[in-house]
Amino acid sequence: MGKSSHKPKEQFLCEPAQPADIPELVDLCLLVERQHEKYWSLRWELRPDIRERYINWMTSNLAKPDWLYLVARSRPAKNKPAVIAGALVAALTQEIPIYAFTHYVFIHDMAVKPEFRRRGIARKLLLEARNWAAGKGVNQLRLMAAEANTPAQKLFEKFGFRTTYREMVLPI
Ligand SMILES: CC(C)(COP(=O)(O)OP(=O)(O)OC[C@H]1O[C@@H](n2cnc3c(N)ncnc32)[C@H](O)[C@@H]1OP(=O)(O)O)[C@@H](O)C(=O)NCCC(=O)NCCS
Repeated sequence: MGKSSHKPKEQFLCEPAQPADIPELVDLCLLVERQHEKYWSLRWELRPDIRERYINWMTSNLAKPDWLYLVARSRPAKNKPAVIAGALVAALTQEIPIYAFTHYVFIHDMAVKPEFRRRGIARKLLLEARNWAAGKGVNQLRLMAAEANTPAQKLFEKFGFRTTYREMVLPI
């Protein structure tokens, strides 16, 4: 058997988030938002009450069939409660009416806690999102990766994503 860089520790299951998971899921999404704000605050400056806003917004979308809230949760073991290691948020999104397809699935956020990285959890979340998207009948999964976020770009490229647009911002 070949060597793998993934650490063979506990198993993680990707499953729909429960209402009680929302604060932790939001904290994972905030990891990304705060990382973005550091890249360039003009583009990503956050509101001071972002956490509360995020929790309210996510809670209001949780039961909607067009939204996917996934958490990667460890299997509970003896004396070890299940923990959330990563999360992904995506939505079925309508395209403008000029293309041959009407919808695509857009990944709004995804993150894995630093202590659980490089174990294939992001890949698992992406696979689950791809399956969900296929079930919605769409032919593409999209996302935006910040220009400075090379680890994320590497992950997505390895998974099979292709770069299409480059967002450009002019400060005014
Ligand atoms: C990007 C991120 C989600 C990756 O999560 P992860 O669970 O560690 O990723 P995986 O273990 O599934 O990695 C799968 C493959 O992606 C690539 N990859 C992942 N992280 C990488 C890194 N830091 N550097 C280079 N390649 C990386 C590797 O090819 C990896 O396979 P390998 O470990 O066998 O080499 C995680 O680093 C993270 O949460 N970062 C902060 C938030 C963020 O940037 N989110 C994306 C916003 S668009």
